[in-house]
Amino acid sequence: MSSNSFWRFWRRQSVNYIISGGLLAAALALILQNGCASQPETAASSPPTRERISLDMDWRFAKGDPAGVSNLLYDVRPQGRARGRRGGAGAAEPTNAPSEPTPAVIKSWVLPSANDFIKDAAQRHTRPEGNLGAEVVYTQPNFDDRSWQKLNLPHDWGIEGPWITNGTVGNSGGTGRLPFFGIGWYRKSLDLPKSDAGQELFLEVDGAMAYATVWLNGQFVGGWPYGYASWRMDLTPYAKPGEQNELVIRLDNPPNSSRWYPGGGIYRNVWLTKAAPVQVGQWGTYVTTPEVSASAATVNLKVTLDNKSKATAQASVATEIFALDEKGNREGTAVARFPAASLQIAAGGSAVTEGKTTVANPKLWGPYPTQKPNRYVAVTTVSEGGQVVDSYETPFGIRSLRFDPNEGFFINGQHLKIQGVCDHHDLGALGTALSRRALQRQLETLVDMGCNAIRTSHNPPAPELLELADEMGLVVMDEAFDCWLSGKTDLDYHLLFADWHEADMRAQVHRDRNHPCVIMWSIGNEVGEQGQGAAGAAVAQNLTDIVHEEDPTRPTTSAENSARANSPFPKAIDALGLNYQGAGAATSTNYQYPVFHASFPTNFVYGSETESTISSRGVYIFPVAKGFGASASASSGEDVANHQISSYDLTFPNWAQAPDKEFMAQERFPFVGGEFVWTGWDYLGEPTPFNSSRSSYFGIIDLAGFKKDRFYIYQAHWRPDFPMAHILPHWTWPERAGQVTPVHVYTSGDEGELFLNGQSLGRKKKGQFEYRLRWDDVVYQPGTLKVVTYKNGKPWATDEMKTAGTAAKLAAKPDRETIHADGQDLSFVTVRVEDAAGVMAPRADNSIHFDITGPGEIAATDNGDPTSFESFQAHDHKAFNGLCLVIIRSTKGAGPIVLRASSAGLKGAEVTVQAEAAR
Ligand code: GAL
Repeated sequence: MSSNSFWRFWRRQSVNYIISGGLLAAALALILQNGCASQPETAASSPPTRERISLDMDWRFAKGDPAGVSNLLYDVRPQGRARGRRGGAGAAEPTNAPSEPTPAVIKSWVLPSANDFIKDAAQRHTRPEGNLGAEVVYTQPNFDDRSWQKLNLPHDWGIEGPWITNGTVGNSGGTGRLPFFGIGWYRKSLDLPKSDAGQELFLEVDGAMAYATVWLNGQFVGGWPYGYASWRMDLTPYAKPGEQNELVIRLDNPPNSSRWYPGGGIYRNVWLTKAAPVQVGQWGTYVTTPEVSASAATVNLKVTLDNKSKATAQASVATEIFALDEKGNREGTAVARFPAASLQIAAGGSAVTEGKTTVANPKLWGPYPTQKPNRYVAVTTVSEGGQVVDSYETPFGIRSLRFDPNEGFFINGQHLKIQGVCDHHDLGALGTALSRRALQRQLETLVDMGCNAIRTSHNPPAPELLELADEMGLVVMDEAFDCWLSGKTDLDYHLLFADWHEADMRAQVHRDRNHPCVIMWSIGNEVGEQGQGAAGAAVAQNLTDIVHEEDPTRPTTSAENSARANSPFPKAIDALGLNYQGAGAATSTNYQYPVFHASFPTNFVYGSETESTISSRGVYIFPVAKGFGASASASSGEDVANHQISSYDLTFPNWAQAPDKEFMAQERFPFVGGEFVWTGWDYLGEPTPFNSSRSSYFGIIDLAGFKKDRFYIYQAHWRPDFPMAHILPHWTWPERAGQVTPVHVYTSGDEGELFLNGQSLGRKKKGQFEYRLRWDDVVYQPGTLKVVTYKNGKPWATDEMKTAGTAAKLAAKPDRETIHADGQDLSFVTVRVEDAAGVMAPRADNSIHFDITGPGEIAATDNGDPTSFESFQAHDHKAFNGLCLVIIRSTKGAGPIVLRASSAGLKGAEVTVQAEAAR
């Protein structure tokens, strides 16, 4: 018997067992369960019955509609309606300006794409007759697109600029002054083999900004408007196996549709999935772990099977669980299996089976450093008529969550103070185009700080973010919306909410609910409905109900800035997230944490958005604020001439606070579950308080990924056992000789002694609710500042800051010296301007030129300066306060990539990064 026919034989037998309980196969199954058989063909080793192929390569792209096209607008857009900045109420419905005729809109064509996620069949949409857009030349299969730009996805059409100048559309710091908006067309030829006949073909888009519509071979397929949603289109009815197929995607990204830089384009990964007609449905598995202990865990699994064929199907489903190693590879044989099930599925219908099994001595998923993010995978095999027709993998983790109103958050019975950050989705100089490595670098830097939680503000994240969080052991607050019916900008999601919130919310929960990292579902950020009494609360209740239906194991939450403890809104939310009001503004004692706790004694309360401290890396402004700091103003923390903010970390907008104030509130009210700081990383757009800039000042880490001083106050507080000390400011102030220049130290120690040129400036101890050591009366003289810190009276950590001499040379250091030669991997090279002795010149802004040779390219350059309007693609870039970043991307060749940095008057630097072919 050839090995192939053996596999087929075995498969048939096992299916018989499932269906009829045949003795031979039952005995075989028993052998497998007892682990005696060595790697037999189980579900795990079946040949691929489902294929998921990346469609990222080789697209053609053009901006704008062809001449004469005006009939592809999704819906009427309201004009020029002003809205309040902080969650003010807007209009609930799109309205046309009174004098305008109503243009033709295509909404009725797109809405049916939501049907799978609309529960009430009566509310589902019917597709109009005919074919939308058939007359538009770009949709036609024979259109010659060879003059269009050739590119690979993910792609952000806004990041290459040009920067938007005053007086033109998009001239707002709010959205980063980059051209993210407009219409864009993507076309791709797909060679579908003949063998695809009889297969079901799905286009899966992880994210496209925004209002996507799809055609295949000139036939309209469907669309999805929300730019942060992941969605799938069934291509089967329009596909031509054995021929070249033309896939076309049109995006229409409205200006004034976001409060930050949303990017534009197909900015996440795109896939083609091929599966047999009887198959696991879209995101069709749901794993929960209702009972977890060290000795055993109960694992529940729900599988939804779709039957896309025209006949009733009789299918059997079997699922095995395997442990995964740290790299995500299966370890050994199955650790458990679910009872097999047999299902009858009507033609064109779906059926659900639910089962339960036990994993003995489970390796639990939990966050570092006290736990480990162990993972498992459930491998589901679907068989029909003796043949395996689908094999579907569901990675998951075994863990228990507890949200205690009095004691905080627990995972696997262990208390975890949420030390989280909020982050937007852009990747700085790379824009919004997804890069797994760039995202991983963001998370790694945050973990180094002691961060254990991410809030995906204010939208569903890239699937890769959740994969990385699963792997790295970060918990996630998975957020859906920044607004509901009340908009925050003219053309944001409020125009879609009524028609799409149900589908978007259900789809998000389906996509993400098997990730162990996800601990709560945020249904909205600072929504206007908070202040709309019972009507606003009803909208919240509707979303909470939807989420509970899809996932009863996690709480809903909402980031509340204006809801008060006596308003109806919080009653519709499980976990009460407070934005800024928990700790109150800088000098206020109006702490809302205890007020909410008293009013909602059974709800978990935490800081969903905190601090919003602002700073520019390496900028220090005098005099320095006292106590917990002060709102940004020309006399406090702002450099109004240069649009920079002081890095003493005591400056913030008037609704916000310094880290010290929030730390104090969290300590005073230990029932508070923790916080999500606004923000971990700087992001494109929202450059409060200087709208003329391009990127935010809120980040703990700047846009280029360089740590601001603030990083260390979090590290000191969040990693109390990690010995560290950090001095600020830098110590190169020729113009301040003889002037008072305060020195602050962030340390995980409790005491420190500061020395200037060997002279002690005194030993200081942190008092109760103090999170930094301050020597506020130091008189500047050049030389060396040194701090020696102590913890419990014992030496703990030191730091030193030296006065720099004249800038003399460049130094370059890659974050990784070896990368994959896959055309995607990145090395982030930090270039420093130094004096002859290697001390960083802390205010250097030299212009640096970069040359690259070998199998690599410069993907982007940046320096983290929010006011910089240099191109992110330029090979020349100025340093900002001594630092500059070059992002190297591998091409597909292996070998050494050499980057040379040169600058007039400075000795240049060179680094080599090896691109290694995959083994
Ligand atoms: C919050 C809002 C965030 C961001 C932040 C800046 O109110 O939720 O998106 O705008 O303010 O402080």
